Formats: sequence, structure tokens, C-alpha cells
Amino acid sequence: MTTLNPTAHGSGNAATDKFKSERVTSGTSVERASAIYQDVFEAIAGIIHKHEVTYDEYRVLKQWMIDVGEYGEWPLWLDVFLEHEIEEVHYNRKHFTGTKGSIEGPYYVPNSPKLPSTCTMPMREKDKVAPPLVLKGQVTDLEGHGLPGATVELWHADADGFYSQFAPDIPEWNLRGTIEVDANGNFEITTLKPAPYQIPNDGPTGWFIKSYGGHPWRPAHLHLLVKAPGKRAVTTQLYFQGGEWVDNDVASAVKPELILDPQPNADGIAEVTYNFALDPDS
Ligand code: DHB
Ligand code: FE
Repeated sequence: MTTLNPTAHGSGNAATDKFKSERVTSGTSVERASAIYQDVFEAIAGIIHKHEVTYDEYRVLKQWMIDVGEYGEWPLWLDVFLEHEIEEVHYNRKHFTGTKGSIEGPYYVPNSPKLPSTCTMPMREKDKVAPPLVLKGQVTDLEGHGLPGATVELWHADADGFYSQFAPDIPEWNLRGTIEVDANGNFEITTLKPAPYQIPNDGPTGWFIKSYGGHPWRPAHLHLLVKAPGKRAVTTQLYFQGGEWVDNDVASAVKPELILDPQPNADGIAEVTYNFALDPDS
């Protein structure tokens, strides 16, 4: 992996290296590619004519695209500005009725260490400046039957907004784990309440946001990937009621069904129940 530092360049290159290692194919036919190509270029042509885009603006775009590549920021930029539309189409096309998905973002890493159904996420002493949070619930089918054999993969940023493996000096699996539910599909995870998250903004994604007067913030969020045998896996995120940027996420990835409202439990720790209902895999 590229040398990591807590900058757009560092996390961008780490996200790019991770993505490149996956080598994706899509099986898209020439006919479908042709239809998409025509619509893309018709839309771009329409924008160029509508706004009478200048030669200098065209050259700035060319330079900016070169910069995004050199900073390794394509995974960051694409996941912030486009992934939510892809995710929405994916959801609507198949008429899923289980738990809503949301964007994966650039920082998922598969094969995080397995943890028992009642567990505490791997964390450092210094992470405990953030308040503890208990997330409990059940993984079920659409009829509410618990699904033994399900796993809940959880990953989120530390109190400084950094994800392990995408910033330096963080233990490899900090705040990442694959929770194995119990025989009834239940889990109870103790972790930390994340803080709002600023996407890396000292590189070309940040320049882009400044150029149109936007902001680089995402609301505090937990990332989850929930899987069970024979069920459609759901990649999603959970947010916090009343949290900053919940109504104004730079990545447009918040859905009302995904907002938590934790309350103090008997020990005074913020606790919330969230159940995941998985659609059949077909
Ligand atoms: C990005 C970061 C995230 O944590 C996320 O959830 C979505 C996008 C990003 O930097 O692109
Ligand atoms: Fe994130």
C-alpha cells in the first residue's frame, strides 16, 4: 500500500489501491453500453450548450480530472457524488422490502475479525474520548424470524474521523469487526458514538466542493454490511437523530428509516435497538 497520512492524498491513494485490487467486471452488452454512451454524451452536450461552457472552464476540468487521478481520489469523489444514485436504482429495481441500504463508501474492508454476538468493538484507550454506544438487535427474514448464521460487519471512523487502514498509526482492525449473531439472530455490540465526518478536503475533491460553495461534511454514521445464508446482503449506514448534517449530507446518503435515537440504558450508556430484515436472495 501507498504511504499513509491523514490527508486526502493519503486516504485517497489507500482507497484507490484497495479498489484496484478488486478488478471488477460488469458483463455489460455492447447494445446497453451504446445506449448509455449516447445518453451520457447527449446530457453532457446539453449542459455545455445550456451554460455556454468556456474553453478555460473545459481546461480547468481537464486539469482537475488529472489531479483527482493523481491524488487517488476517484473512489472518494465517486462515492460521495454518485454512489447514492446507483444505490437507489439498485434498491428500486428489485422491489426490495427489507432494511434499506445506503452507500458503501470507500472504506469497507472485507474479512474483519470475527466477534461473538455480544461483543465490544476493537478500540484503543484513546478512542474512548467518544461516548460509548450499545447497538443491539436481531437479523431476521421478512416475516421476522431470526436468522442464525447471519453476520453483521460494522466499520466506522474514530473520534478524529479516521478509518483504520486508511490513515496512519491506527491498529489494522480498529473499529472494524464481523459480529456473528446468536442462534436467534440477536447481537449486542458495544462501540463508540462516532462524530460527524469531514470527507478528505485538502485535495481535488475539496477544491471541487469549494468551487461551488458547498461543505465537506457527512453526519456521524456507522457502516454495516449484514449477511445471512440465502438472503440478500444489505450494505447500509445508521445515523443519529438530531445530529449535525443529518439533513445536509454531502454524500446524500441519509434515509429516514436509517436514523437512530439512542437512549440511556440502566447503566447510563446510550443504547438503541435496530433490527435488520433481509430480503430473499433472488
Ligand atoms: C466517503 C467517506 C465516508 O466515510 C463515507 O461514508 C462516504 C464517502 C468519502 O470520503 O468519499
Ligand atoms: Fe463513512
